Amino acid sequence: MDEQYLAMKECFTRGARDVGEDLGLPFFASLYQAVADDRRMLEIVRGFPPGPATITGFVTTLNYLLLCDPKHPLREFFPTMKNPRGAIMTKDFAGSMSRYCIDHADKLRKGISDYGVQTNSVNRAPGLLPPMGIVADLEGPIAHLDVGTSAGLLLCLNRFHFDFGDHGTVGDPKSPVHVRCQVKGELSPPVPREMPDIRYRVGLDKRPVDIDNADAILRLRSFFSPEQFDAIQLFENAVALARNVRPRLIRGDALVELPKVIEQIPRDIHPCVTCSWMLWQLSPNELQQFVTLLSDTSRTRPLSCIVVDNHKTIQQIAPHLTTGEAPDPKVKGKVLLLSCDRGDIKITDLADIAPHGERMVWRDGDTAAPALDRSPKTDTSRNNGLI
Ligand SMILES: C[S@@+](CC[C@H](N)C(=O)[O-])C[C@H]1O[C@@H](n2cnc3c(N)ncnc32)[C@H](O)[C@@H]1O
Repeated sequence: MDEQYLAMKECFTRGARDVGEDLGLPFFASLYQAVADDRRMLEIVRGFPPGPATITGFVTTLNYLLLCDPKHPLREFFPTMKNPRGAIMTKDFAGSMSRYCIDHADKLRKGISDYGVQTNSVNRAPGLLPPMGIVADLEGPIAHLDVGTSAGLLLCLNRFHFDFGDHGTVGDPKSPVHVRCQVKGELSPPVPREMPDIRYRVGLDKRPVDIDNADAILRLRSFFSPEQFDAIQLFENAVALARNVRPRLIRGDALVELPKVIEQIPRDIHPCVTCSWMLWQLSPNELQQFVTLLSDTSRTRPLSCIVVDNHKTIQQIAPHLTTGEAPDPKVKGKVLLLSCDRGDIKITDLADIAPHGERMVWRDGDTAAPALDRSPKTDTSRNNGLI
């Protein structure tokens, strides 16, 4: 057996474990494992680098092709309302999947190389809201600039309803988008009593997704496992909301465009950049360039940047905060606040968070709310007519 084949097999096997154990998606995990166990499916991706883009690209392109072809017999193995777990990966299922993938090998390869990993998960908003509240308390009205915005769904977060359990709720309870986050650990996150006063919003992405393009939305949807009925519904509700709000999205590389986009923000509004699971896609060199860009831009005006990403990426930004490995697999992400002023960057380690925002441990004692004494208040979304 050659080295390349073994590396790819190992990568799909690891992917199956991560998706099954850490994300709790046994059906999706069984698809990753079926590829790992089938030489003919592994041959389809010969020549691709064994990494997250290849394995996620393979399984999500397969999911996308079947979303486009809902009557295909392979779909009968997939989760449905009647059979929410889907079929167990039997020989029959694995054989049908293998034949389908071989028949669609060109489309699978094209999906992997053209698409990359492009999610848009609104349940990540709980990682952004308390930090945004901290920024708004300190700086007043803010401009939300979402970098790596995808379809711009997180730009509509002040129209969502947030539920942090005993730690508070905020937003319009009638919102079509309800996001929930379970708070673990000793400290209470500072759930704002009111939505931050967002006066300007804009998204930046290398490949922004057009919310009016049904096929592009289906492709984005294919990143959810078919067993994630609630998450898929939430995604569809968020797309419908974004079609109303219509946040402005700009196509461009953050490493080039960020200063120009910040320059367009009115001077009396504080720029609050958000990077939700975007920076891991940059090389170490590009990541350093991004941090330098924040520092340089802050020489002419102060700005804040909220980063949510994995420990490996965070380690490159703030080596003193993590070894690069998440100590708790259930909260594999980290939330940082970068306060940038006159070229200096102060980094605050705010929280650990699950990749899709469903669980959080607040880490920063200085900003934590007094334990569980926040009376929930709702429907306070402010919009001063600018957006
Ligand atoms: C994994 S998705 C995350 C999307 C969204 N922020 C979320 O959390 O759901 C990463 C996004 O970053 C974008 N991206 C990657 N590198 C970029 C760059 N250099 N400049 C702008 N966008 C970039 C990708 O196109 C993709 O839409």
